[in-house]
Amino acid sequence: MTQAKLIDGNAFSATLRDGIAARVHEIRDAHRIVPGLAVVLVGEDPASQVYVRNKHKRTVECGMNSFEHKLPAETGEAELLNLIKGLNDDPAVHGILVQLPLPGHMDAQKVIEAIRPDKDVDGFHPWNVGKLAAGGEGLIPCTPLGSMMLLRDWICVQSGGSLAGLKAVVVGRSNIVGKPMAHLLIRESCTVTVAHSRTRDLPAEVRAADIVVAAVGQPEMLRGDWIRPGATVIDVGINRIALPDGKTRLVGDVRFDEAVQVAGAITPVPGGVGPMTIACLLRNTLTACARLHRLDIPEARPWA
Ligand code: GUN
Repeated sequence: MTQAKLIDGNAFSATLRDGIAARVHEIRDAHRIVPGLAVVLVGEDPASQVYVRNKHKRTVECGMNSFEHKLPAETGEAELLNLIKGLNDDPAVHGILVQLPLPGHMDAQKVIEAIRPDKDVDGFHPWNVGKLAAGGEGLIPCTPLGSMMLLRDWICVQSGGSLAGLKAVVVGRSNIVGKPMAHLLIRESCTVTVAHSRTRDLPAEVRAADIVVAAVGQPEMLRGDWIRPGATVIDVGINRIALPDGKTRLVGDVRFDEAVQVAGAITPVPGGVGPMTIACLLRNTLTACARLHRLDIPEARPWA
């Protein structure tokens, strides 16, 4: 049995970050501008704390300024909105990210809409959502952007093929991944199906697809016999499961040991889409900085 090619997100994201770091140094030397990313964390969610720590480390590594704002869980919504207003007006801040989920007493949508769209490096503000749907120069959510970069590299660069006309299924319809991913695939002229928890005969929908993007948040839900032989599988899931010996393990939304026997290429978990998300956050921060300062660098142009 042939094994699928493994799509190495660690290697791809390292190359992407190196390119971003080089550009950051270039614009610092040429313009005395240092891109700055502000990350806001409300509360003590352990997973969010890990994400925020990693974002800070990677931001500093590529030469950008990192501004961390950690607020207690009981912070009032008005206080958070006030902090965002300050970051909107701060010329040293080019990207703003409010880590989700927020505590239950806050209206996440209201908070997202308080962020200046041109500093919204998550791409969650309705202005950016609309730009992605209608085409144009908005900021694109990081996980779908990273997934699309891996997909294009495998299908277009390494395999010499084209995405146009391929059948893609996106399993999951979240605002963070599923919906923006579907828009990116449509832009590439794929024929796109968005499947979700109410889809009838999900295995049949997945079996019809040349490209499978799994973003349901259900550990190992997609089985190997759902995958069309030779398909490209992008597994966005990051699920921590308990093992019988009391330890834990990270798994995706796809049953990897089965799918790897059938697929043409597959992203592993960990080491697939995960590291691309932070790399794309840095790229979006660079993009936002370049646009705010009207620098003509490739990262300022619409992601084609
Ligand atoms: N929580 C989980 N994923 C994300 C993300 O992409 N952005 C933000 N802000 N919070 C998250």
